Amino acid sequence: MLQSSFLLLGSIATGVLAATPHPDSLPSYHYGAPIAVECMNRSSETGEHLEGADHELQWIPFPVCNETSKPLEFRYGTEGEVNCTIPFIDDPFFHLLEFYVHNDAPLSCRLASRPPAHVEVVGAKPPETEYIPLTFALAGTLQSSHMHISTHLNVLLHSIPKHHTHRHDSGVLDSGIAYSTSPLSHMGGSFTRKLIIGDPLPLSFSVRWFPTPALPKTEGKVEWQGLGGHIYASTFFYSLVSFIAGALGAGMYTLGVVLPRRLKGRSMGGATPLGYGISTGVGNGWGYQKPRTD
Ligand SMILES: *[C@@H]1O[C@H](CO)[C@@H](O)[C@H](O)[C@H]1NC(C)=O
Ligand SMILES: *[C@@H]1O[C@H](CO)[C@@H](O)[C@H](O)[C@H]1NC(C)=O
Ligand SMILES: *[C@@H]1O[C@H](CO)[C@@H](O)[C@H](O)[C@H]1NC(C)=O
Repeated sequence: MLQSSFLLLGSIATGVLAATPHPDSLPSYHYGAPIAVECMNRSSETGEHLEGADHELQWIPFPVCNETSKPLEFRYGTEGEVNCTIPFIDDPFFHLLEFYVHNDAPLSCRLASRPPAHVEVVGAKPPETEYIPLTFALAGTLQSSHMHISTHLNVLLHSIPKHHTHRHDSGVLDSGIAYSTSPLSHMGGSFTRKLIIGDPLPLSFSVRWFPTPALPKTEGKVEWQGLGGHIYASTFFYSLVSFIAGALGAGMYTLGVVLPRRLKGRSMGGATPLGYGISTGVGNGWGYQKPRTD
């Protein structure tokens, strides 16, 4: 954890050179803004994607969730659990699920990387919406009369790095992935559902956000805080010593304020600081900076 303060200093040094500010003319998502999930329309007979007359792919909304009466959406920067029960699996959708769990066809979806631009000049062409792919790697097993679906999925979403990241930041999507967890517990797992045509499909998503395309690491070492706590006394003292030797200034804040707070609030979310707003996400850096109070 404390090694992070070195990265902060490194980030300051390299960030000035590496920063390419994105065009201010294009909008970015506000913290909490809804991001709709659209998926490829596929033939339930063959699993193949369907094309319009212009040979464009057909993107349709994710099925409507019973919880919200709306198609699935995620909220920018907002971590947590999202439930989406598809209330009735009809025959065509059941066959599509067979394609998905057999990997004959992926459940290919997409998210707009930015919210739509408001065009103020009459006649001006709005900039084309760009999308990032979001594949739902849905796991399950097929039986002759039914199937088992692993209904809990992790959703990892990355933002494009910003020069300054602060609490409840706005931003632009970089990439993402969704995958069923524990696919091997397909007979008895609590997040496994035996499914026949006409059943509801209760999907649940654990959504985490990353402020850069990088996964959490410091100095090349993976620091995945959520997996059983990587901060041991030795790490602490090693860090403390090298810390005092190397970095004063910015570091004292980390030691006095951020670290105690981080130790108090250790959770899975601690590794994905966008939603918690106490990181700076330049390059690969996972350093910490003083959060703004605005
Ligand atoms: C998907 O394609 C099928 C077959 O062309 C069509 O019947 C259906 O309406 C499409 N779905 C949506 C939501 O447009
Ligand atoms: C999601 O559903 C589970 C199981 O029904 C429930 O325990 C949980 O509270 C729900 N979570 C949310 C955020 O609605
Ligand atoms: C859908 O929501 C309604 C109203 O909240 C509830 O009565 C119904 O049982 C739900 N259906 C499923 C399949 O979860």
